[in-house]
Amino acid sequence: MGLYTLEICYLIASICYIMGLKMMAGPKSARNGNLLAAGGMTLAIIATIFLYKNDEGNNLGNQLWIFGGILLGTVFGWMAAKKVQMTAMPQMVSLFNGMGGACAALIALVEFPKALEHMHENWNSLFMATILCGLVIGSTSFFGSMVAYLKLNGNLKKDIRLPFYNVLNTLLIIGTIGLTVCLSGGHIPNTADFTMWTWVLLGGASLYGILFVLPIGGADMPVVISLLNSFTGMAAMFGGFLYDNMAMLTGGILVGSAGTILTVVMCRAMNRSLSNVIFGAFGTGGKAVSSSDNGKQKSYKETNASDLAVLLNYSQKVIIVPGYGLAVAQAQHVVHEMEELLVERGVEVKYAIHPVAGRMPGHMNVLLAESNVDYDRLVEMDDINSEFSTCDVVMVLGANDVVNPAAKEDPASPIYGMPILNVEDAKSTIVNKRSMNVGYAGIDNDLFYRDKTSMLFGDAKKVLNDIVSELKNL
Ligand code: TAP
Repeated sequence: MGLYTLEICYLIASICYIMGLKMMAGPKSARNGNLLAAGGMTLAIIATIFLYKNDEGNNLGNQLWIFGGILLGTVFGWMAAKKVQMTAMPQMVSLFNGMGGACAALIALVEFPKALEHMHENWNSLFMATILCGLVIGSTSFFGSMVAYLKLNGNLKKDIRLPFYNVLNTLLIIGTIGLTVCLSGGHIPNTADFTMWTWVLLGGASLYGILFVLPIGGADMPVVISLLNSFTGMAAMFGGFLYDNMAMLTGGILVGSAGTILTVVMCRAMNRSLSNVIFGAFGTGGKAVSSSDNGKQKSYKETNASDLAVLLNYSQKVIIVPGYGLAVAQAQHVVHEMEELLVERGVEVKYAIHPVAGRMPGHMNVLLAESNVDYDRLVEMDDINSEFSTCDVVMVLGANDVVNPAAKEDPASPIYGMPILNVEDAKSTIVNKRSMNVGYAGIDNDLFYRDKTSMLFGDAKKVLNDIVSELKNL
């Protein structure tokens, strides 16, 4: 093998990550992008196992352990990914992200005693800071992700808010940063004390991970997971520095920056700041809270599957707005069946995708891809908003906040300023949900009471099955 074979493998792996990430930006290329990035990672792992040589010229040992671990992880990951329901994706992402954080923290734990021994004579603050940052960020990410997992999986039902939790968390983070700086500077000369304080640091960072996620509402968890994801990326980046490993460094930087960008994009799409997500409670849950009706009783119209089937059958253009309720009802296959029936009859059908419809980024894209909806029919919010005025029927399926006109019209509304889908511009708007209850933001939706809107109550899957049957009989 040539002198630079390992470095060339790392370079190829890094290029695969970057191209894979770029391809993940579009639904058509996302699957191949994921495979390309995974291929790059596999190359980096295999190259490290077989080509890496330490200062003494030895390869990595412990190959039985390494391949045993890889086999276990592959079997567990494969089975979990095959079994997971679409609605359980956020907790799976959280679990996998936590594992990344744990790996980064474990790397730091393994390297720490060696570094301490070598650096006794000649202290290198930057090197120690690299190890400790990996330890702190990795453990925060692991414990935070585990709490997020338990919440999303329904094992931890309450949003626990300790008294003065914001003050407590702030003190904890200041203490953790302070101790990291102090230890990195080599201000604790005694090795035993140094080790003891490093365990204290690990405990503090882990506790911070738990306490920072505990009070956050379950529905805000996707933003938190994305933030924790960026933490894991940063922790892996420190591992890359530590081992002078270019593939790990590039991977960590990409995950860290992608997670940060996603966090910002999600907050913007919800018109909320990150501090509001982390420190503020959101969503009243349950019954409607109106911000504009001043207590007046408002009336709404109802429709049924058979009338709607006739209306759809004679339409020229129909836009479907999928939301969280469609995912809950697992109605992605039947909505595709309805779409195909309409297309056969010459109706133009499109899906309007709001960036935060559902509960995780790309939720609706992934859901509809599962039922093989043609990607060309999925249109992003900015591109479809001008088309609503040209369509006969808009079907809002299990969506609520993303079509709430209060975001444009009511400055007192908590979602004021959030970009929404202009469904009220269509000739006719049909809203399917099970009741008049609120969505995630916990606020009433004036769209339901408008002249051009008709409510179609029921579980999305059941209602769509009924429409499909009616269409087949026409
Ligand atoms: P929501 O506003 O949460 O509304 C979903 C609606 O679906 C509910 O009003 C519910 O009404 C209905 N529903 C539930 N189960 C149903 C079923 N089986 N059949 C039919 N309808 C059903 O959803 P959205 O419009 O998709 O908006 C997403 C919200 O989540 C936004 O506020 C967004 O800011 C927030 N959020 C999103 C993300 C990401 S990244 N996507 C992250 C964090 C927060 P009923 O109970 O009456 O049926």
